[in-house]
Formats: sequence, structure tokens, C-alpha cells
Amino acid sequence: MTDQELLNLADKAKQKAYVPYSKFQVGAAILTKEGKVFTGCNVENSSYGAAICAERTAAVKAVSEGYHDFEVIAIASNGSDKETVYPCGICRQFLHEFNPELKVICQSPDGFETYRLSELMPKGF
Ligand code: THU
Repeated sequence: MTDQELLNLADKAKQKAYVPYSKFQVGAAILTKEGKVFTGCNVENSSYGAAICAERTAAVKAVSEGYHDFEVIAIASNGSDKETVYPCGICRQFLHEFNPELKVICQSPDGFETYRLSELMPKGF
């Protein structure tokens, strides 16, 4: 699967976002070493702190199905097409647990930007 194909899956997944408060739809698609893809969207809550990000939705779905050897995650949103969408710090720590060198594909104005999780969160716990 190409990076663009994975990003396309993330972009499709954002349509399921439950975002009555922010209206900020985020989709994620995570690829495992077995070649399986799990997608996720953000799920908000009237108690704002209880919201779950798209990346963690996708990762938890994978783990709950027995997959946690993550290789790549792609992130897309319905945000401004002038901004790149980066994972929040909670998601960076959450994903670090499984692969500190995870490849992270972030939708951007020119298509996408690619990072290693260790670039986005050096010296993780
Ligand atoms: N959000 C994500 O789903 N992923 C991120 O990496 C950044 C933020 C969402 C958007 C909005 O729902 C917010 O988190 C609520 O916590």
C-alpha cells in the first residue's frame, strides 16, 4: 500500500467523525506489519476531556483485534487546506508505546508530509 493510498483511507475515515462541538473531522489509517489497515475517527464528548482522537481510535481497534506491530499511520482532516494536520501529544505517546520509529503521514497543503514518530516526539518515555 502506498502512502497516498493509506492517506486516502484516512481521508475517507474522517467522514465518520463525531464532532458536534469542534466540527473538526479527523481520520486516521494505521498499517500493520501483516499488511492489515485499521481506520478511525475522532469522537468528541460533552465532557471535552473525554474526547478520543482519530489516531487512538484506529490504534485501539487494531490492538483489540490482535494487531499492534504498527508500521505507518496516516492522518487527514477537514481543517484548513492551508495547514498540516499533526498528531497531538497524547497520540504521540500512545503510539510510541508500539513503535517509536512509526512512520507518520500528515495531510498537508501540498499533499502530505512524512515523519518518524521519534522526530515528532524525541526521547519518548
Ligand atoms: N484530534 C484528533 O483526532 N487527532 C489529533 O491528532 C488532534 C486532535 C481531535 C480533534 C478534536 O475532536 C479534538 O481532538 C478533541 O480532543
